[in-house]
Amino acid sequence: MNATGRITEVRKLLDAARQEGLRVGFVPTMGALHEGHRSLMRRARASNGFVVVNIFVNPTQFNATADLAAYPRTFADDLEACAAEGVDLVFHPDESEIYPRPPSTRVLVEGVTSSMEGERRPGHFAGVALVVAKLFNIVGPCTAYFGEKDAQQLRVVRRMVEDLDFPVDVVGCPTVRDADGLALSSRNARLKPDDRQRALALVAAFREIERLVADGERGAAALTAAGRNVLERAALDQIDYLEIVDPDTLEGLERVDGQALVCGAVWVGDVRLIDNVLIDETKEH
Ligand code: PAJ
Repeated sequence: MNATGRITEVRKLLDAARQEGLRVGFVPTMGALHEGHRSLMRRARASNGFVVVNIFVNPTQFNATADLAAYPRTFADDLEACAAEGVDLVFHPDESEIYPRPPSTRVLVEGVTSSMEGERRPGHFAGVALVVAKLFNIVGPCTAYFGEKDAQQLRVVRRMVEDLDFPVDVVGCPTVRDADGLALSSRNARLKPDDRQRALALVAAFREIERLVADGERGAAALTAAGRNVLERAALDQIDYLEIVDPDTLEGLERVDGQALVCGAVWVGDVRLIDNVLIDETKEH
């Protein structure tokens, strides 16, 4: 496995791989790698001759400096995880390699960013879109793997690729969960032991909504109210949102007919967690 912090080196190695006729699979991450990230790597490994993992804690997508400072960094373990998954190249630039000077260019994806994370975290998706656009240009034509865990991010990236004709295929991968249902997240490491139990309320709220849909409830307002009830009973520190949206446009739904995405964001202690689940009503009957 190769590892480099230099863009020129990435380009050289990828030119060579493409000359050998290898397809490139790309997994962008911010490190603190867990089984969720590793599932993306395995998916990339299974379908490509050359797999690149990016590890870069991108400052421009953090809208709270405390969150950036507290973001877990486990580089030595990350390298081991990448090697164990058969990754060919780890790109781990430092900030000055990616942002040698403050960028004048903005990549603003509208529409899908207007709700949920986009609404609560101003500038977040502009930061994500800019860094992902830069990474796609550095890595070049590839198939890129993103988790459904960050459902809105996945749609932002898909929309950017479509609008700007990036030569990239975007593949969405299912959310990997712990045995108790909690979605794996690098931020889970910061949960205090007691808080982990409270964090499960988000999954419990999703389960309650799924149960009610299976029982025939279709009204989004009634469903979210029932879900919020579960969250409120768990005494979370803050409920940012619980919404039922169209899986493609992310616009709020009034009724659940066909597919619907249930998305939530909550604070447990000083950790903010997001998660979502797809309800496919067409499959249940
Ligand atoms: P990060 O949070 O490190 O996540 C990297 C990728 O792993 C994302 O596509 C994310 O959706 C996926 N992922 C995280 N937890 C997962 C889980 N439990 N199951 C499946 N996939 C999961 O997302 C980012 O980094 C950044 O915004 C990035 C795209 C790298 C741009 O900086």
